Amino acid sequence: MHRSGPSLVAADDICLTFPDSTEVLRNVTLQIAHHEFVALVGPSGCGKSTLLRLLSGLEQPTSGSLVTPSQDIGFVFQDSTLLPWRTTLRNIETLLELRGVGATERKDRAQRALASVGLSDSGHKFPRQLSGGMKMRASLARTLLTDPSLLLLDEPFAAVDEFTRESLNDDLLALFASSKFAAVFVTHSIAEAVFLSQRVVIMSPRPATIVHQVEVPFEYPREPSLRYSAEFATYCGEIASVLREMQTS
Ligand SMILES: Nc1ncnc2c1ncn2[C@@H]1O[C@H](COP(=O)(O)OP(=O)(O)OP(=O)(O)O)[C@@H](O)[C@H]1O
Ligand SMILES: [Mg+2]
Repeated sequence: MHRSGPSLVAADDICLTFPDSTEVLRNVTLQIAHHEFVALVGPSGCGKSTLLRLLSGLEQPTSGSLVTPSQDIGFVFQDSTLLPWRTTLRNIETLLELRGVGATERKDRAQRALASVGLSDSGHKFPRQLSGGMKMRASLARTLLTDPSLLLLDEPFAAVDEFTRESLNDDLLALFASSKFAAVFVTHSIAEAVFLSQRVVIMSPRPATIVHQVEVPFEYPREPSLRYSAEFATYCGEIASVLREMQTS
C-alpha cells in the first residue's frame, strides 16, 4: 500500500499571506507518503506554484506547520532552465559538478541519466538544438540524477503538443517506477493529472484551500490505452465537475 508508514510531507493548516497582503493559501492540510504520486489542480492564480515553492522551502508559511524532507528535493519548471552555453550532457552534469563529484563518475552518471530519458544520442547538442520535449526530458534527467526523495513539477509539459506530452507522461511514470521519489505534479490538464497520479488534489480559487481529493486506483504500470477507457473518463469527469462548480459558484 503506497500510503502506509510515516508521511514524507506533512503540511498542517498552512496559511500564507504575502507582505503586500495578498492572501494565497488558507488552511491547507496535505500529507504525501514516500513514493506517492500526487497531482495538484486548481484555477489559474489560485496558489499552486506558491504551494510548490513552499514545499521546496523557497517560501515560508505565515502560520501552520510544515514537515518536508530537509534536502533531496528536485524542482522541474515549465521552462527547462538548461544553461544555453553548455551541451546537454554538461547541463546534466552541473549539479554533480557543484557537489564535487569527479569528472569520470559525473560523465558516466550523466550518460546513464540521458539514456533513461531516451536522449543517449543528444548529449553533445546545445539546448537550442533540442525540441521542447527533448529539453524537458533533459531537465528531468538532470533533476533525477541527484536521486531526490521529493520531486516537485510545475506544469512541466504544458508547452509541448499533446502527443509529445503523452509520451513524456509515459516516460515520467517509467522513471517513477524505477526510482524512490514522491511527486507533486501541478497541471491544468485533468487527463494528465489522472493518468499520472494516485491522488488528484483539487484547490479552490485564491485564497486556496483543498476542496476535494480524488483517489485514482489504477495500478502501475499504466498502459497508454488507459486514457481511452470509460473508467478513466469517469475520474476525469468527477474532477472537471468540481472545478466547474467552483467557477460558477
Ligand atoms: N511574491 C508574491 N507577492 C505577492 N503576491 C504573489 C507573490 N507570488 C505570487 N503571488 C500571487 O499569489 C497568487 C497565486 O500565484 P501562483 O503563481 O501560486 O498561482 P498558480 O495557481 O500557480 O497559477 P497558474 O495556474 O496561473 O500558474 C497570485 O495572485 C499571485 O499574483
Ligand atoms: Mg503556477
